[in-house]
Amino acid sequence: MQQPTRLVVLVSGSGTNLQALLDACTDPAYGARVVAVGADRDGIEGLARAERAGVPTFVRSLSDFETRDGWDAALATVVERFEPDLVVSAGFMKLLSTDFLAKFLTLNTHPALCPAFPGMHGPRDALDHGVKVTGATLFVVDAGVDTGPIVAQVPVTVEEGDDVASLHERIKTAERAMLVEAVGRIAREGITVEGRRVRIGAGAR
Ligand code: GRF
Repeated sequence: MQQPTRLVVLVSGSGTNLQALLDACTDPAYGARVVAVGADRDGIEGLARAERAGVPTFVRSLSDFETRDGWDAALATVVERFEPDLVVSAGFMKLLSTDFLAKFLTLNTHPALCPAFPGMHGPRDALDHGVKVTGATLFVVDAGVDTGPIVAQVPVTVEEGDDVASLHERIKTAERAMLVEAVGRIAREGITVEGRRVRIGAGAR
């Protein structure tokens, strides 16, 4: 059997997407292993989840660095140490530089159907716009904000009486399932990215 795909997961908050990956990775047939979890702040539940799972953690806070480039380079250095095949930004609330992205194939989840409602407030913006269907998107991170080539998407119906919290919770449930399914397939079958076209199962790793 081939070696499990090495994942470094980046988080900034509650880490429920991370937890879904940690849980999936307990099954050897899943094909991936979370080798480290990184954050841009201390004291968050995402780091506690990693610690409970016995996964090494690291924190690189922007405020500890004089420049954003310095922070980004330090993040890349520590990520590199864990030799990831794939970096998953799961609720990581910082943009990564093109230098970082050139080093690591990095996926991100966004709680809206890209290209609609990019940015920090996907569920709120979808609700304000009055859409009837929104969802979540897994994409390859590029230099833009939630603009990268799309790996997977899942629709979520907006219900009468939804507020931002209730809608985001339902999106997150769908988002976690999408993330686990796509990362597992990528681990087992490979991924190729050609321009905006992403293919899973092309035999590449
Ligand atoms: C997710 O909805 C993610 O798409 C968004 O923030 C949420 C993070 O949730 N950027 P969690 O930290 O994985 O629970």
